[in-house]
Formats: sequence, C-alpha cells, structure tokens
Amino acid sequence: MPPDVAVSIVVTGGSGFIGSHVVDQLLAQGREVAIYDLQPPRYGQRCAFIRGDVRDVQRLTAALQGCEVVYHLAAESNVNRFYESPLYSHDVTAGSVLCVLEAARTCKVGRVILASTEWVYGTAPGGEGWGSDKRTPITEATPYAQSPDHLYTSSKIAAELFCKNYQRLYGVSYTILRYGIPFGERARPETVTPTFVGRMLRDEEITINGDGSQSRQFIYVQDLAAGNVGALAPKAENEIFNLNGREPISVRDIVTTLEEILGRKAKVRFVADRAGEFGGRFVSSEKAQRLLGWEPAVPYKEGLERYVRWFRAEAGL
Ligand SMILES: NC(=O)c1ccc[n+]([C@@H]2O[C@H](COP(=O)([O-])OP(=O)(O)OC[C@H]3O[C@@H](n4cnc5c(N)ncnc54)[C@H](O)[C@@H]3O)[C@@H](O)[C@H]2O)c1
Repeated sequence: MPPDVAVSIVVTGGSGFIGSHVVDQLLAQGREVAIYDLQPPRYGQRCAFIRGDVRDVQRLTAALQGCEVVYHLAAESNVNRFYESPLYSHDVTAGSVLCVLEAARTCKVGRVILASTEWVYGTAPGGEGWGSDKRTPITEATPYAQSPDHLYTSSKIAAELFCKNYQRLYGVSYTILRYGIPFGERARPETVTPTFVGRMLRDEEITINGDGSQSRQFIYVQDLAAGNVGALAPKAENEIFNLNGREPISVRDIVTTLEEILGRKAKVRFVADRAGEFGGRFVSSEKAQRLLGWEPAVPYKEGLERYVRWFRAEAGL
C-alpha cells in the first residue's frame, strides 16, 4: 500500500541493481524515499516500499501524491528479453514512461528523472570510434541513432521523447540520464563482469569473441548512483546528461585487471567475432561535470576490486 506519510522521492525500480544504489545514496543524504517496484527491497534499505507495476497508472498516481521527484528506473534492463518478448519489454520500458509522466502531471510532481542509456546514440557496427565524424566524442547534442538496430534502443528513444513531449505540452519537468555500462555490487549475473569474475574464481574457461578489443566506458555503479543524486540540482531541470566511465575498457582489459586482482591467470578461449558486434566509441560526460560537478570518483581497478570482494562474499568463493 502507498505509505501514510508523503514521501518526497519515489524510485521506480528501486529494488534493482542501479536503483538500489540510488536509494542507498538518497537515504544517506537523509531524504524521504519510497521504492516503487514489483519486488521488495533486497539489500536492507529502510524506506517505504510500494509494490506496484509501472504500467499501472492508477497505482502510480496514488504513489506519487505529495512526491517532489520521481526517478524512473524500472524497465526491461535485459536487452535480450526484448528479442524474446518485444511487446511486454517495450511496454515496461517506454509505455511505463507515459504512465509515470501522466501520474506526475496529475500529482504535480516537480521532476521526472529518467534512466536512459548511451545506446540511444546507436550500436550499429560502423559507428565505432568517436562521434559521427570519427574525431569528436559523442555528446548530448549528438543526434539519436537514425535506424536503431535494437528494439531496446528504439524503446529508450521513445521513452526520452515522451519526457520531452510532456515537458512541452504539460510543463512536466524532466532530467534524462544516459547511463554507460555499469558494473559493481549487485550487478545482474548475466552481464560480462559477473560472468568473468565467476568463471575465473571457479577456474573455468572464459570465452572472448573476436580479439577482445571491443570496449566500453564501464562506470562503477556507486559513481552512477552519485550522478543520479546530483541530478536533483535545479540546473539539471529539462537537461540530458551522459553519465559514463572515464576511459574505454576493452574486454581484454577486464581479464587482465581481474588477473591482477585475483593473482591468477585466466583460461581464455578466443572464438569468432559475433556478427554485428559493436566495437565501442567515446561518450563524453563533460556536461555533467560542468553543470553538476559530477565525475567518476572510483578508478576502474578499484571499482572492480570492490566488486570482487562483494562477489566472493555473496558466492562464498
Ligand atoms: N544495467 C545496465 O547495463 C544499464 C545500462 C544503461 C541503462 N540502464 C537502465 O537503468 C535502469 C535500471 O537498470 P538495472 O540494471 O538496475 O535493472 P534491474 O533489472 O536490476 O532493475 C529493474 C527493477 O525494475 C523492476 N521492475 C521490472 N518491471 C517492473 C514493472 N513492470 N513494474 C515495477 N517494477 C518493475 C524490477 O523488479 C527491478 O527491481 C533501466 O531503466 C535500464 O534500462 C541499465
């Protein structure tokens, strides 16, 4: 049931990987927070919990009464599931944004902060390297991918556009945060870092597609959460920010850094490149630094060390 007392911040998807860290940091700042999720909090957060579906506009409208800011993180975060169930995945990822915006409009919520992704710039092979002219980094001014190669990308672009529509049509303020690829404590097990860590700890083989030079600017999840909290600043109103790691980390870099941390050699098997494998490119987070004073604080290796410690404790390895 919705909480009896008005909460100032509601976090949809607050029981998930990234959302739980956002909630932790909001609570650490003494904010009144409620998690709105299908699943109860898993990591001991002491805050209100509203069990609800983000596709349920009535439930959301009840939950957002008296709320000042809503973070909307609930979505189909596993991009492979889009392929398996496109209708459901799109509904949860983009349809839900209309529900959240509509509830925010009804409840006069001050701001909707949307979790988006660097995928909106496209992930098609050939778009690697730097920005469109291959020299300048991608910024928030870089256009959306013109013909996205993934349903998830189209859905997140739609989600962003709905925020812009609601701002223009109804005056609902937004902040769009385009996340890089996060890693860290509580990461979903099917993603690359947990897979590699688990396999290395169990002395199992790691498979790398191609030569392992494909790279991403991995962002430590607690830094990402800090960027979300920083977006509460008035300057972030109706703005878009990239929140990305400092430097490109290749798949091979992940393995060599893990070898240093664990003090053992990985058993690596290189296999043929996957068709349509995206090599990566550089996304700048300079705007977040300039306007919000945000930048990643934790170096890649340190973030990975913290994650390995957490993983070992959880898995008993
Ligand atoms: N993890 C990534 O690599 C990544 C990268 C860029 C952007 N994002 C975006 O960040 C956000 C959070 O991702 P995450 O990795 O923490 O995902 P997650 O899957 O760990 O968490 C999602 C949460 O949403 C909840 N949820 C799912 N469907 C719901 C529904 N219908 N109603 C209510 N709650 C529902 C789940 O129970 C879960 O707690 C998503 O919007 C995702 O698209 C994630």
